[in-house]
Amino acid sequence: MSRKKQADYKIEGTRGIFAYLFGLSGLINILALTGAFYMLQIYDRALTSGSISTLVALSVLAIGLYLFQGLFDILRSQILVRLGARLDTKFAPLTHEVVVEMPRYGYSSAEAAERGRDVDTLRSFLAGQGPIALFDLPWIPVYLLFVWLLHPVLGILTLGGAGVLAALTILAEILTRRHAQTMIKAAVTRNAVMDSNTRNSDVLHAMGMTRRAVDRFERANQYHLEHQTKTSDIGGTLSGISKVLRMMLQSAILGLGAYLAINGELSAGAIVAASIVTTRALAPVDLAIAQWKSVVSARRSYKRIKETLAVLADKGDFIPLPKPSHSLRVDNITTVAPTTGAVLLSDVSFEIKSGQALGLIGPSGGGKTTLVKSILGIWPVLRGSVRIDGADLGQWAEDFYCDHVGYLPQDVSLMEGTIADNICRFAEEPDPRKIILAAKTAGIHELIVHLREGYQTELGPHGTSLSAGQRQRIGLARALYGEPFLVVLDEPNSNLDAEGEEALTAAITAVRQRGGIVIIIAHRPSAIQAVDMIGLVQGGKLVSFGPKDTLIQPKTRPLVVEKSERQPMTSAAE
Ligand SMILES: Nc1ncnc2c1ncn2[C@@H]1O[C@H](COP(=O)(O)OP(=O)(O)O)[C@@H](O)[C@H]1O
Ligand SMILES: [Mg+2]
Repeated sequence: MSRKKQADYKIEGTRGIFAYLFGLSGLINILALTGAFYMLQIYDRALTSGSISTLVALSVLAIGLYLFQGLFDILRSQILVRLGARLDTKFAPLTHEVVVEMPRYGYSSAEAAERGRDVDTLRSFLAGQGPIALFDLPWIPVYLLFVWLLHPVLGILTLGGAGVLAALTILAEILTRRHAQTMIKAAVTRNAVMDSNTRNSDVLHAMGMTRRAVDRFERANQYHLEHQTKTSDIGGTLSGISKVLRMMLQSAILGLGAYLAINGELSAGAIVAASIVTTRALAPVDLAIAQWKSVVSARRSYKRIKETLAVLADKGDFIPLPKPSHSLRVDNITTVAPTTGAVLLSDVSFEIKSGQALGLIGPSGGGKTTLVKSILGIWPVLRGSVRIDGADLGQWAEDFYCDHVGYLPQDVSLMEGTIADNICRFAEEPDPRKIILAAKTAGIHELIVHLREGYQTELGPHGTSLSAGQRQRIGLARALYGEPFLVVLDEPNSNLDAEGEEALTAAITAVRQRGGIVIIIAHRPSAIQAVDMIGLVQGGKLVSFGPKDTLIQPKTRPLVVEKSERQPMTSAAE
């Protein structure tokens, strides 16, 4: 997806830590037998011998062991928290890289955000009770063995109880998985509504649609809530059942122990010890059932992070290519909509050379924006190729685009940051001269310096503190920053006044004079004064392409071509 190269996309490599945690859990679980041993010793040794010093010695020993257990427990949870933090540090930026690319492939921003939360989900799971339960589960046999050694019959009873509880955990897994899937989808739908509502705040207010928007959100929220409730019910019910079973088992052990004691097969201390151990043995099962919802979501997040990283790992290395200087060649490209798969553009070919400017005209919905999005690689092309100086678009590393391409999208949306940040494309070491040059070329320098904080003015979210025309001109300055070889402007004059259009024409001329290439989409003729080539895009095809003088006589203005038969055009380049 992305064109940036990075070294390590693997999520593995935590195996060593997991082995260590497993061992640590073993230690904790063995130390958890302290209470039972203490009980055995008190009943069967201290009480029978009546020795206070034995009692004291045993107690001191028990306290020591308890302290160790607590220490290891703390250590284990700290390791898990740090493991989560380490994963977060490593994978959050990588996941974010994919998240920012998702909308280009037709995913909604709610879906993208959902994927962005995967790392969060995994990190908070690791810091919670879930992994502790999972690490304790494999150590249940230690307790079974202990009870077995006290008396095999008690061992069999405990084993039976463990079996029933394990079955409950599996049931939790099966029941939760189905609902969790629906729940995630419902959450995405709800967040999509929320997203679209917040972004249309002005419209909702002006046309009195807020109530309806809230209702729409409420319906989506309700659906999400239903599944949320069901999933929680499953967890709650099963963990209730498991708790009761555990208590019943504890009493059954006491009862059976008493029976064995009456028959002289068991000591009093052993009865109590067995009861304590059985309870402790099965506690992780309770915990696991209660935590199963988070286990399921953590597992899904883990799987998705792996998929996400696999996408990034596909990227090859890029050999740095020289600064482009000759031509842009579009060869038979066909583009389909990322969302619907419908063909939006078919078999478009043309070539423009250094110093030329191409004006793209045509009716709304004809495919002009689609064409430039394909050229810039924003939308992947199904067939064909786009070459700059003969090299296919895919061969350029991300840095290349940053240095040699300028793009002003149709709906200019600036980014959170200062005007200077936006113009220099958030360069780490911005060049003030280049920023001012770009602003001057875009004809916005005067306006910026008149602002109270000049170039350091914060734009706020989406740059909404400026007028549409001002935003568009700052977008133009951003496109011109660093004198890129290819400058693509999608309806740059839609919000411009006469002065802005003059600046635009001058900017196009400047790019041509320094040997760059401009592609400009325009509805009004004023915007394409400075171009020498014209392409008419209609119905997803490049209907005509050629020098402006031969395609358009001065009389035929305005240039917004509603019907293609208006004038004879030279045929489109193959
Ligand atoms: N994200 C999208 N998903 C599906 N179809 C789209 C998308 N964006 C645009 N289209 C369709 O592509 C066609 C061309 O749109 P566009 O290139 O934006 O036209 P214009 O010439 O006005 O710039 C239109 O029919 C539009 O419905
Ligand atoms: Mg358009």
